[in-house]
Amino acid sequence: MTASYPALRMRRSRASAWSRALHRENVLTPADLIWPLFVTEGKGVEEPIGSLPGVSRWSVDGIAKQAKLAAELGVPCIALFPNTQADRRSDDGAEALNPDNLMCRAIKAVRDACGNDVGILTDVALDPYTNHGQDGLLDDAGYVVNDDTIAVLVDQAINQAEAGADIIAPSDMMDGRVRSIRMALEMGEHHNVQIMAYAAKYASAFYGPFRDAVGSGGLLKGDKKSYQMDPANGDEALREVALDIAEGADSVMVKPGLPYLDIVRRVKERFEVPTFAYQVSGEYAMIEAAAAAGAGERDALVLETLMAFKRAGCSGVLTYHAPLAAKLLSQ
Ligand code: PBG
Repeated sequence: MTASYPALRMRRSRASAWSRALHRENVLTPADLIWPLFVTEGKGVEEPIGSLPGVSRWSVDGIAKQAKLAAELGVPCIALFPNTQADRRSDDGAEALNPDNLMCRAIKAVRDACGNDVGILTDVALDPYTNHGQDGLLDDAGYVVNDDTIAVLVDQAINQAEAGADIIAPSDMMDGRVRSIRMALEMGEHHNVQIMAYAAKYASAFYGPFRDAVGSGGLLKGDKKSYQMDPANGDEALREVALDIAEGADSVMVKPGLPYLDIVRRVKERFEVPTFAYQVSGEYAMIEAAAAAGAGERDALVLETLMAFKRAGCSGVLTYHAPLAAKLLSQ
């Protein structure tokens, strides 16, 4: 039921700032953000990433400082991604299982620096460790095999949990991996380690800068369409999410972000579980390119896009703009 003009003037409630504040339906705070960070070897190293202007790879000591900054800014969680040195990449991604790999050293350094002031999310997938850039093991025909890959992912997840990861985030899209990882975590007494499943992850053209950042882009031949989802599909995302919840995911993620907000909304309405979205590297780069071209104002673009995630139903957003957004939001 509604009145009509002039009894109803929608502009009445928009006429002043206090009234707009009073009627605002959604809020965005630094606590809604997860900040992805890239780790590289060395000490005191900062390597800017060309296709992600404003984002760098940091050596482990620098990662710890960034994590402290996150805590100071009220950003509750960081996500770590390693740029594994070339001579440690192999067919089978075995470096993922090394308890002293870059990732594990970064996890420990963040824990030492921040205690429990910041959550540590770690990606489970083999692409930063393989010499072919795929997320799993290949058979002779170059197909990414499912079940043998899961066995490695389980060991990778346990390796990360043992180093101190708080949230294990399988991003590989293999079938059945959430159940296997959950069971292994339970058996390993990691009862409180969460799983945030990349449940609906699309085979997207928006991941390019990320692959530069972790150094897998130049290695990757072909695409990831035999495991990541077809951008044409929506119902299939709901099946993926249902499976991951049934297998023991604590929260689910939709990825990329803005082009898939319809999926976020459907997931949230259907399952009523904590739902996250990843505003991925290509989305970040688009905003930066627009700002650099004078086609939009960076701060406003960042805050508007992040609010869109909240409106769509997200509990939180992974975004490279997290520190900027957190600063803007606390002004
Ligand atoms: C790896 C992974 C990817 C991203 C997160 N984890 C890339 C891919 O699947 O190729 C993309 C993140 C981004 O683009 O910011 N499995």
